[in-house]
Amino acid sequence: SRLNRSALRTPAQQVVMATQDELKKLAGYKAVDDYVRSGMVVGLGTGSTAAFAVERVGMKLKSGELKDIIAIPTSVRTKEQAEALGIPLVTLGTHSDLDVAIDGADAVDPRLNLIKGGGGALLREKMVEVCAKKFIVIVDDTKLCAGLGPSFPLPVEITPFCWEHTLRKVAACPAAAGCEAKLRLGSAATGSKVDGTDPAVTDNDNYIVDLFFKQPIADPVALAAQLKATVGVVDHGLFCGMTTACIIAGKDGISVQT
Ligand code: 5RP
Repeated sequence: SRLNRSALRTPAQQVVMATQDELKKLAGYKAVDDYVRSGMVVGLGTGSTAAFAVERVGMKLKSGELKDIIAIPTSVRTKEQAEALGIPLVTLGTHSDLDVAIDGADAVDPRLNLIKGGGGALLREKMVEVCAKKFIVIVDDTKLCAGLGPSFPLPVEITPFCWEHTLRKVAACPAAAGCEAKLRLGSAATGSKVDGTDPAVTDNDNYIVDLFFKQPIADPVALAAQLKATVGVVDHGLFCGMTTACIIAGKDGISVQT
């Protein structure tokens, strides 16, 4: 059965969560205020932080502060949110060049390499975000890490066909040495935050294998190449060399890293 971990939090922990949500909102709103202008084609990310950016775009379109925006969502969830807010949507099918894309991340290293895909949307996110002139990452400061891996498992999207075989191949990538690979269960819609007994299924009808690392991934670029070269892997949550700017919200305020 599906279990929402937030339901298990004590009232004190829920106050901490509210504060973290406020930070996510600050980062999401700032990204739109600083980087989105009228007439742009905008990539809309997925997740609780990206949802605040989508909210801000909708708000500014409604007030008339932004005009003639068209947007490309990176998941069914984001598409539904954007539609509800009246944001005009297109797809990569008709628009391959984006002015800007804004999205959250699960972990950010000092070089602004990312782990993404905690929400299971990594393939569409990567397809959209590589097409953007500027890719703006929005996080609260809990996402910062010295090295990718230990703070958040690395998601890898694979085909369901003989998934056990692909899981073994993924775990055998030399640059992933020492990781533990687990098929993600539950709903990809809320990612690893949900427990379940059936495989999580992505928007693309694929499965996700999460790679758990005790030590930082020594060479994320090498691992990205090895994962991509593994037959049965559709894509992975390493976003290396893609970030234009990272907006980080912490209790001491907002900072921007480039
Ligand atoms: C979804 C993602 C999200 O951007 C990532 O999981 C961060 O989510 P949140 O802002 O809810 O912490 O990659 O696939």
